Amino acid sequence: MLPQLEELKLNALHELDGISNARELESWRVRYLGKRSELTGVLRSLSQLPLAERKVVGAYANQTKALLEDNLGQKEQVLQEKQLAETARRQAIDITLPGRPYAVGHQHPITQTVYEICDIFLSMGFQVVEGPDVEWDYYNFEALNIPEEHPARDTMATSWVDSETDDGQRPMLLRTHTTAVTARVIETIHPPIRVVEPGKVYRYEASDATHTPMFHQIDGVAVDKGITMADLKGTLYEFARRFFGEERKVRFRCDYFPFVEPGVEMAIECLVCGGAGCRLCGNSGWIEILGAGMTHPHVLRCGGLDPEVYSSFAFGIGIERLPMLRYGIDDIRLFYGSDLRFLRQF
Ligand code: DAH
Repeated sequence: MLPQLEELKLNALHELDGISNARELESWRVRYLGKRSELTGVLRSLSQLPLAERKVVGAYANQTKALLEDNLGQKEQVLQEKQLAETARRQAIDITLPGRPYAVGHQHPITQTVYEICDIFLSMGFQVVEGPDVEWDYYNFEALNIPEEHPARDTMATSWVDSETDDGQRPMLLRTHTTAVTARVIETIHPPIRVVEPGKVYRYEASDATHTPMFHQIDGVAVDKGITMADLKGTLYEFARRFFGEERKVRFRCDYFPFVEPGVEMAIECLVCGGAGCRLCGNSGWIEILGAGMTHPHVLRCGGLDPEVYSSFAFGIGIERLPMLRYGIDDIRLFYGSDLRFLRQF
């Protein structure tokens, strides 16, 4: 019986050596240590052996069993570690792989321009104030010296907001210019006032290369005792120098706006031809960039200020025009087409 057990042991150990996974190991265990295994059979039948033989064979069989169990445990451990190492290898993150860059957005060219202009005026002591896009007729027109039958209303194609007017409320509209904010500011802030007011404005118009029904303006207003036309010119000269460059020539001419008296327009030397005359400037050599003037007494009175005590200058700049001139953009609709190939350039 002993040689038989010896052979069993050697076979078992030899086979165990070649095992490389948990499934094979389990069938090995069943075969050599399971209930129906040869070894278990030997141990069960010990009682039938004569006493002397039973002792020797019993001891040997038990030893063999212990040895196989021991080896089984070790093999289990080895396989487990191997499995773990394999999982670690498969799930490892390769930190040397370059990352995938993700797209970072940036400011729209109009936003950039608004911020740039605000920065210039902030550095001159102005504050930035915003007003509502949906506005009362009063602030957009009445308080700005544009009463109901005034012809200036025809120049600003207005989008009216359906509103109940039976209760005596004046009708509402989408503001046609940010000068509406100037009317609010004069009524709200106690002088001295130095404010710029950027925002969207709306006109009831079809789109073409130079028009969109929504565009941007920035108005400004300064109110104090003793403000003069010289303050207006000095402030707007400085703005033009900072925005268009030190060398750029600036020109003021008379113009008419109901809410200023006198009213002016400011033009800069043409950016394309430098004053010689070209298609962009209509051969004049000049490009108009803003309207301005000394705030009309009616506007000050509507804000509760005495025009005999306070004086004021105001101005309004169209925003889209500026980056169009600077970058040679010939169609305003590009700003609102959401074409990333266009927008990414800024
Ligand atoms: N609101 C005018 C427009 O939309 C521009 C303007 C002109 C604003 C003169 C002003 C100003 O504040 O003083 O055409």
